Amino acid sequence: MNTDQLKETFTSLYGTSENEIHLYFSPGRVNLIGEHTDYNGGYVFPCALTFGTYLVVRKNKQRLVRFATTNFDHRSEVKLDEPFEKEGKSWINYPVGVLNELRKKAKEIEGVDLLYSGDIPNGAGLSSSASIEMVTAFAMNEIFGFGFDRMELVKISQNAENNFVGVNCGIMDQFASGMGAADHALFLNCDTLDYERVPLKLEGMKIIIANTNKRRGLADSKYNERRSQCESAVEAIRSEKKIKHLSDLNLDEFNALSHLISDETEKRRARHVITENNRALNAIEALNQGDLESFGQLMNQSHDSLRDDYEVTGKELDTLVEEARKIEGTIGSRMTGAGFGGCTVSIVKEEQVETFIREVGKGYNERTGLKADFYVAEIGDGSKQIV
Ligand code: GLA
Repeated sequence: MNTDQLKETFTSLYGTSENEIHLYFSPGRVNLIGEHTDYNGGYVFPCALTFGTYLVVRKNKQRLVRFATTNFDHRSEVKLDEPFEKEGKSWINYPVGVLNELRKKAKEIEGVDLLYSGDIPNGAGLSSSASIEMVTAFAMNEIFGFGFDRMELVKISQNAENNFVGVNCGIMDQFASGMGAADHALFLNCDTLDYERVPLKLEGMKIIIANTNKRRGLADSKYNERRSQCESAVEAIRSEKKIKHLSDLNLDEFNALSHLISDETEKRRARHVITENNRALNAIEALNQGDLESFGQLMNQSHDSLRDDYEVTGKELDTLVEEARKIEGTIGSRMTGAGFGGCTVSIVKEEQVETFIREVGKGYNERTGLKADFYVAEIGDGSKQIV
């Protein structure tokens, strides 16, 4: 939907009023490398996509916030003079979670009518939820003049997801959605929150996102299980070395201390995190030097480690990656995001993109019976006001 259509839909839902209508946008993200490192205080390298969530907002002179979306036939509202309650598994928990975090900071909003509209493929693991949270936080901050900077809005959005929605995610998705910049990837140290916008010089190459279209059934519980395995590995190491996160260790230190982790599975989880931090650092170095071949190899190694040590890939993601690697113009291919379904990201030579989409799609379908969707990613800006 374009801006005019969104405004029209908004007034057909909420009627007309003398109050101004504003439009905001926050993107989804794709992570190039540095997976399952954010909640371990490590490095990530995501970029913001040009698709995401739009939010139309108008003040309403009532003591309530009304929610609607163009994506589903579902509307809801919350009263500003009452505690915010979770609504089952509804999408409105994302924005209400943000309002709840703002309230904890004594930032009370006034009544507003909200219309959301997302163009991120649903359930693809491209951070539609983070984009809903970020667009809400960004819009409320602008409209009510709360004065938070972008990093504070990122944290508010992550807290909404952790505390209200109940998903124990790290900071990467909300960060990428809030801080992205067109044609740049974001190199973030998730411990210090220092970051750098790195120009994505991919001469003659395209970033292809492929969606497995596999439902991510138990993803949240498996995600939380990985987190606690990492925490337990940290506890084991602490008997000899005081560390805050796994990412406090370099590979040599880890090799010297890994005997302290008695559980073999936890040891492999920890090894993934530490080797992935190295790969992320090396990949950024390679990109800065224009060495895309090395960048691609590191992406491949990242996937293999997520498959073998972290065990978050599964048949569908592995098949997409295997098929992608058969194509001559593929520089690198890996799963992106939490895993257990969702998407892969591949760097592919421009002239091979069509072949890639056709052949990978065919091979994947033959082997899994599922139909993959492909997107040539465009890297866009973080949260912004459109009107
Ligand atoms: C999900 C989480 C992120 C991050 C990734 C894995 O997208 O929301 O915080 O942990 O998984 O890298």
